Parts: sequence; structure tokens; C-alpha cells
Amino acid sequence: MSTKRESIHGQWSNRWIFILAATGSAVGLGNIWKFPYITGENGGGAFVLVYLLCIAAIGIPIMMAEVLLGRRGRQSPINTMKTLAREEGRSGAWALLGWSGVIAGFLILSYYSVIAGWALAYVLNAGSGVFTNAPAAEIQNIFAALTASPGQLIFWHSLFMLMTMLVVARGVKKGLEVAIRFLMPALFVLLLIMVGYAISSGDFVRGLRFLFTPDFSKITGEGVLIAMGHAFFTLSLGMGAIMIYGSYMPQNASIAKTSIIVALADTAVALLAGMAIFPIVFANALEPGAGPGLIFQTLPIAFGSMPGGSFFGTVFFVLLVLAAWSSAISLIEPAVAWLVENKGWTRIKASAWCGFATWLMGLGTVLSFNEWSAYTLWGKNFFDLLDFLTSNIMLPLGGLFIALFAAWVMKSSSTADELKLPENGMAHTGWRFLVRFVTPVAVIIVFLNAIGVV
Ligand code: TRP
Repeated sequence: MSTKRESIHGQWSNRWIFILAATGSAVGLGNIWKFPYITGENGGGAFVLVYLLCIAAIGIPIMMAEVLLGRRGRQSPINTMKTLAREEGRSGAWALLGWSGVIAGFLILSYYSVIAGWALAYVLNAGSGVFTNAPAAEIQNIFAALTASPGQLIFWHSLFMLMTMLVVARGVKKGLEVAIRFLMPALFVLLLIMVGYAISSGDFVRGLRFLFTPDFSKITGEGVLIAMGHAFFTLSLGMGAIMIYGSYMPQNASIAKTSIIVALADTAVALLAGMAIFPIVFANALEPGAGPGLIFQTLPIAFGSMPGGSFFGTVFFVLLVLAAWSSAISLIEPAVAWLVENKGWTRIKASAWCGFATWLMGLGTVLSFNEWSAYTLWGKNFFDLLDFLTSNIMLPLGGLFIALFAAWVMKSSSTADELKLPENGMAHTGWRFLVRFVTPVAVIIVFLNAIGVV
């Protein structure tokens, strides 16, 4: 029976390790770098509300579906989809869903690594004390100088890619378990300290109002799409990352409970990051819609003026790098696992090739901030396009098909069995209703709305 299948790549020691690993994957640049800047670009409160609704109505049910598929298939997403589809008497073409996930992961990691490189560079900046008492304009210059230099960006991008592939080569389990036990709690505490600073020295009330007072005149169809795309991105959904982590999950752990814990932790980190950043934005008359540089242009102001700022700044960027690191490995793990399963490659060889290809692709993002910044399509440069294509199109589409598979292809008895919920009980029926109807319809409406059809 399928429930006895075992992963050839090993298993998490217990359910807490799964929670830590999934949280490690979910919490990353998406929460601390991306969430604040897209919130700023899309007008604040209304965007945040749509994002929260998407987490609850789309994100959590799809996360449960992904974990469930992964644990039942116990292989890389490509092979898991193929196996499960055959088991239900359907076409092996469902493996295409795994393929699109592998491509999405590769594309996302290619730019993710460049941004994580900024965080690496900022560890050094914070440590060297350049932020101390620096005015906002000076801090903006530091950021501009970094992004204007392809050489520096390539250096940090290469370093981050190397770090990522080292962990992946060792095997996610061995490579990851140790690092994440302390990392996530430490990041959380540091964010609390930053919020404390924002309360005492920033324009906290205005920051909160910006984040939590919805003004629907400020959000567009594209804004709603971005909010939904971000719900997928921030929870690592829609490309098989959570599916493959699910494939290492012990058989007895509750999928519903763990998914909810991961989603809550992830959301808490994003909201804390927003509460730390916007009060500083307003107190220093900065632009909330400043774009991808937002946290790199705001938080250093705080570090520059708070007592012990060089220390806190260094620790903060170290933790940001670690959070990005534990996310990055999940983006490439499905590809590496597939190469090991199907091509018989060693993990080391598979990691090296995947890492090299991703690194090469990342050069496009590096150049989009300088040499290529003038080349745009629909007002978006190479990096923006890559992010838009992956977060707002590929991930929601992947999620849509995951939902369709879990709720329309898999029998109700199979999903109840894997979720360990009584088939006709409230929890299972409610979940099935969400993934059968609510999630697919919501995703489709948001797509149609964004292209102006509804
Ligand atoms: N969720 C991570 C973040 O917020 C990024 C990430 C890791 C991801 N794995 C993923 C995004 C898989 C999409 C799909 O930073």
C-alpha cells in the first residue's frame, strides 16, 4: 500500500523537524524583504488584507494538499505526481506539474540568490559601522553603489549559491536540521527588538495605519494578483518545495496541524517585519513604494541611530542570510532529488550542476539592476519580469493544479487516510470543500480580474 512507501532520501527525525524545515523554507526573504516592499508599492492596508485572506483560504488548504501528496508519494515531485496519478488510474502526464515546479524553483532561486547576496553584503556593512549616524541619503547611496556594481553583486551571489549548494549536497536532512533549530527563534526575537525600536523612535502609529487600515481605492486587479502570488511565494507553495519536504515527513504527524503552525509562524514574521519597517519609513520621510531596496534603505537608518546598532545590525543581516539560506535549499531540492532518483547521479554531482545553472541564470538579475536596467517590457526589467512570471503566474497555476489533483483526482478515502482525519468529519469535509471549489475558483477569478475580464 502507498502508505508504506519510503523515501530513498531519508526522513525527518520527528514532526518538529518537519515544522522547523517547512518554516525554514517558508520564512525567508519573502517575509522580510519582499512583503514590505510590495505592500509599500501596492498601497498598504487593502493589499495586506487580501494577502491575509489568501493565506487563510488558499494558502493553508493548498499547503495541506502539497504535504499530503508528498508524503503519499515519497519521491521528488515529478515522480510523486506520476506515481499518485497512476495509482488513481490517471495519466502519468500529471508529472508535468512536477516539471513546471522544477522550472519555477530554478527561476526563483536564480534571483533569490542575488537578493540574498545583498543581505550578505550588508552583514559586512553593518559590522563595519558605516551606518552609524549616517543620514538617510547616505544610506540610500550605499545601497545604490552596491546595486550599480555588477562585480560586487556577482561576488555575493556566487557566495550565496555556493553556501546553498553545500547544504543541498550534504542532503537536506543532515545539512539543515542543525542549523534551523536555533535560527528561527533567534530571528523572531530580533524582529521583536526591531519593532521595539520602531515603537520608540519611528512613526509607529502611521506605520500601523498604513499596514492595517484598508483603503480599497488603492488596490488594483494587478495588486490583488500580486497579493495572491505572494501568499504562494511566502508559504513556498505551488512548485513542490513543500511537497518534497512532506515526502520526508514521518507517517504519524498531523498534516493539518503542522500546516497551520507553519502558516501562522510565517505570517507573524511578515507582519512583524512590516511593523518594524514602515514606522521608520514614515519617520524619515522615505517612500513606501521605493521597491526592492526598501529594507536595505530603511533598517540601516535604525541600526545607525540605535544604541548597539552595529551589533544588532550585524546580527540582523546574519539572520536574514540564514533565513534566506534555509529557503533557498528548498527551491532546488526537487530538481536535485529528481536527478538522484532518475539519473542515478550522486547528490554532489546533482547539486553542482543545478547550482551552476542557477548561478548562470542569476547573472540576468545581477545585470537588471545596472547594465540592463534600461531594458524593460511592460515597465518591468528582467528581475521584475522573472519575479512576476514565477510568483504571480507559475506558483498560482501550480497551486491550482495541486488543488485539482488532491480534491478531484484523489479519492476522498485516500485524502482522509493520508490526512488522518475521519472521512466524513468536519475537518476533512471542510478542507475538501476548500480545495475542490473555493481555492480553484479564487485563483481563476484573481487571474481573470488581473487581465481585466471580470
Ligand atoms: N518562501 C520563501 C520566502 O518567503 C521562498 C521560497 C522557498 C519559495 N521555497 C519556495 C517560494 C518555493 C516559492 C516556492 O522567502
